[in-house]
Amino acid sequence: MEISPSILSADFGNLLSDIRKVETEKPEYLHIDIMDGHFVPNITIGPLVLNALKDKTGIPFDVHLMIEEPDKYIKEFVDAGAKNITVHQEACVHLNRTLQLIKSMGVNASVALNPATSLDTLRYVLSSVDMVLIMTVNPGFGGQVFIDGMYEKIRELASIRNEKELNFKIEVDGGINIDNIKDVVLAGADVIVAGSFIFANGDPGENLKKLREAALK
Ligand code: DX5
Ligand code: ZN
Repeated sequence: MEISPSILSADFGNLLSDIRKVETEKPEYLHIDIMDGHFVPNITIGPLVLNALKDKTGIPFDVHLMIEEPDKYIKEFVDAGAKNITVHQEACVHLNRTLQLIKSMGVNASVALNPATSLDTLRYVLSSVDMVLIMTVNPGFGGQVFIDGMYEKIRELASIRNEKELNFKIEVDGGINIDNIKDVVLAGADVIVAGSFIFANGDPGENLKKLREAALK
């Protein structure tokens, strides 16, 4: 299991200092949520901020694009230090092309599904993705409650991966905390995004440690 702390719930006035607090616990990724106010009803940050951080931390950037027309911005995010780029199936008319574009830039290509979107929509791209992100809340905001129906979706995806002998990772994002992380991992998730649990209350490093412990219990 790998953890990708989401800086969406960090203190943006002291972003680097919050990142330093999780660095001590060696997270596998740093999850960065990019929102455009169109695909989701919220606006966050762009490549400028990633560029400012990329030489200051060694944690690989896991960039979650919740934007329309992502193709236009992929190169900028790669140049800004992204190691994984996730696009939403719902935002990509030519999903295969978009995934190829990401891969052609030498970074991992990942696709996300909103809670209401069926796994069937990925049937013909599964063999060419490095990761699938199952949204366990409706995207747009941190601090929402995990949608219980998503356990079944994670299990189904894990079983498809097994049947087809594929090896993409399964990432989950939204509402993960110490009470549900173990169940999410048992359902088949490999990469766990957590925002508010890590950054909203208490020490981010300690919270990350608690999450890892809860997953192993
Ligand atoms: C929501 C974002 C998430 C968010 C998760 O649209 O994609 O990455 O930061 O936050 P929590 O863990 O608070 O649900
Ligand atoms: Zn996210």
